[in-house]
Amino acid sequence: MKILFVSLGCDKNLVDSEVMLGLLRDRGHEITNDENQAEVIVVNTCSFIHDAREESIQTILEMAAMKTEGVCRLLIVAGCLAEKYREEILDELPEVDGVIGTTAYDAVCDVIDRSLAGERVQAFESVDRLPLVKTKRVITTGGYSSYLKIGEGCDKHCTYCIIPKLRGNYRSVPMEYVLEDARMLAASGVTELNIVAQETTTWGKDIYGEKRLHELLRALCRIEGIQWIRLLYCYPEEITDELIEVIRTEPKICHYLDMPIQHSSDRILKRMGRRTSRKELEEVIGKLRREIPDIALRTTLISGFPGETEADQEDLKSFIQTIQFDRLGVFTYSPEEGTPAAAMENQIPEDVKAERRDELMALQQRISEEKTGNMVGKVLKVLVEGRIPEEGIYVGRTYRDAPDVDGYVFLDAEEEIISGDFVTAKITGADEYDLTGEVLYEFTE
Ligand code: F3S
Repeated sequence: MKILFVSLGCDKNLVDSEVMLGLLRDRGHEITNDENQAEVIVVNTCSFIHDAREESIQTILEMAAMKTEGVCRLLIVAGCLAEKYREEILDELPEVDGVIGTTAYDAVCDVIDRSLAGERVQAFESVDRLPLVKTKRVITTGGYSSYLKIGEGCDKHCTYCIIPKLRGNYRSVPMEYVLEDARMLAASGVTELNIVAQETTTWGKDIYGEKRLHELLRALCRIEGIQWIRLLYCYPEEITDELIEVIRTEPKICHYLDMPIQHSSDRILKRMGRRTSRKELEEVIGKLRREIPDIALRTTLISGFPGETEADQEDLKSFIQTIQFDRLGVFTYSPEEGTPAAAMENQIPEDVKAERRDELMALQQRISEEKTGNMVGKVLKVLVEGRIPEEGIYVGRTYRDAPDVDGYVFLDAEEEIISGDFVTAKITGADEYDLTGEVLYEFTE
């Protein structure tokens, strides 16, 4: 069968999609990008916030039209929206032939077989199950950069977050499975591993009795072919001295840390159910910067959490000004049904949330401009991701830039560069988020 896959939501969901694609390919199915050719369409959905749900439903409806307009015989809905709304999907969307929950994606081939035989299949398992699949995933991120998922679910239960209900409690993927996945990726030409989970820093605690991310990282660094390892979704209170030491000393680990902190006001952090305070945040960031002076720090914040006052907003502004994050994103708070925060009093009007977000982003833009300006004159390793033919320039990322969310370097080069190659470049210019540079050919490290 020719199968089209549409993957929505986060990078964790994308890894699940790639595993499903691997299983389907192993079964002899053909993967297509053409919806007019697809006999089976699988939509792997997101249900994180209202907008993500809307996008998922819209995509399902668009793909449902292919059952009458195209050659599509089966429409399968997988992922977080299916986990939360399986009844509604089956009741209200007769075009959907099967639904797959977040912890049953390894059943995808079986679901397709049974749906083809006429059954309307529901494949669901406990949200605390951890599918362990040894398959060569189909890499959808360009062939040289990939996400490596080391855990599933989350135990933190922040009051605004629906993820534990959709994805269960935290389960670490055992070391041997992570390493096998990474080796398979390296053998396929992947050079950059982006380590993901709902949170990566507690990896190991549930299965080994203690946090062992530092050990996992050291083992990943030994894999031939891997050149960059980048850590995403770290919880500040879980960052250990061992982890800082491994980032500092292992050359393959990027001096980059994504650490979503959500807020800085102690009052709001408490209401959010976060287990940290502004003082502790400042301490851990201070330690990271002392130990690894060139570390690039990314965070995300939530604007307009219930009960947030102007004083809390001022706290956040002074925190951003003090810390000077290298990268920062701000989302407006979205109340999610079934979470404690959605039932809290003093919900903030949408226009106030947006105003506060814009104020924070304007502040960060000035900080970011100064930070990128400080990069001019530096010599950096760049992973080249493509070429803009009209302008004759190449586009890449430095260790400071995670895929999809951070900035780019636009490069002049005298010789042709293949996407996925690493080059050494001198930074010659900067704007708020991006850099320009030229490739150095004579440079030796
Ligand atoms: Fe969305 Fe599920 Fe990821 S809700 S953000 S796809 S874990």
